[in-house]
Amino acid sequence: MIEIQNLTKDFGTIKAVDSLSLKVPEATTVGFLGPNGAGKTTTIKILTNLISATSGRAFLHGTDVVTNPKEALAHVGAVVETPEFYPFLTPDETLAYLGSVRGMHAKDIRERGSEVLHQVKLDQWRKTRIGKFSKGMKQRLAIAQALLHEPDILILDEPTSGLDPRGMVEVREIIRDLKKEKYTIFMSSHLLGEVQEVCDRAALIDHGKLLVYDSIDKLKTISKVTKIEVVTVGAASDALLGSVTKLPNVRTVERVGGNVFLVTFEGQIDSRADLLLSIQASGAKVSGFSQVGLPLEMMYMDLVKESR
Ligand SMILES: Nc1ncnc2c1ncn2[C@@H]1O[C@H](COP(=O)(O)OP(=O)(O)O)[C@@H](O)[C@H]1O
Ligand SMILES: [Mg+2]
Repeated sequence: MIEIQNLTKDFGTIKAVDSLSLKVPEATTVGFLGPNGAGKTTTIKILTNLISATSGRAFLHGTDVVTNPKEALAHVGAVVETPEFYPFLTPDETLAYLGSVRGMHAKDIRERGSEVLHQVKLDQWRKTRIGKFSKGMKQRLAIAQALLHEPDILILDEPTSGLDPRGMVEVREIIRDLKKEKYTIFMSSHLLGEVQEVCDRAALIDHGKLLVYDSIDKLKTISKVTKIEVVTVGAASDALLGSVTKLPNVRTVERVGGNVFLVTFEGQIDSRADLLLSIQASGAKVSGFSQVGLPLEMMYMDLVKESR
């Protein structure tokens, strides 16, 4: 379990993280979503004790990262900065070295090393020099080293950033596999689609502030901007479309067929119900009224825009 309380980090006059509070429940995958400069890396660096906060606290499994970093991070695996490995070493040699630095026994390193290389699908490459690896393979090795000491919390900063499309897909697959093994995963990303695909919950931040934090399913329903497809019995007249355009909260109306039109609408669920009533009051016999497409993208854009 990860808990962040009122975390703030100032860099001179810049508030990189601004009174951020967040809880990541056990065995949950949370996407920490925000545009470049939102404060994701700074938050993750504080969580992993690479830098200190200006104020506020962070707990891992209930242990304070600042006052008791060794214990707090004992069960945490992290990939924070683009990993640099010695190019002349193999994955086996790299894990042996990193394991011994962490005080693991040679036998444990060998056994666990095989497991983690299997988890990141690098079994075949364990005796190949890393200098020959693609960026995606290096990132997978970085995840393997993070798993070496059997953590149950995994913290990943933009794990697919800078990878080619295939590398991205492979890393996402590995994260999804780890999810099934009940790890608690906190991963940052600036890609909404990635968070939607991989995570159970999303915490959206910008300017160091938490904007929303909820399950992906819930976020889809709270989105303020939606596209609604309206189907009428008989043709939808231009006059009808004209009057729908003038209804409150309607942004645009677009005809897509003789008796079908799309309404881009800004409002919560109850005003959506009002919209249906108003369209019917304009004389239309409505046989279909349903949300189309994924409104999450619109919500992301809207929230980020509002916070600027
Ligand atoms: N070491 C630093 N010194 C000064 N400003 C920094 C430093 N690190 C980050 N920042 C600033 O803090 C803000 C948040 O950065 P960062 O946490 O890296 O965002 P993200 O990872 O979401 O892209 C940005 O405005 C960035 O320029
Ligand atoms: Mg970053």
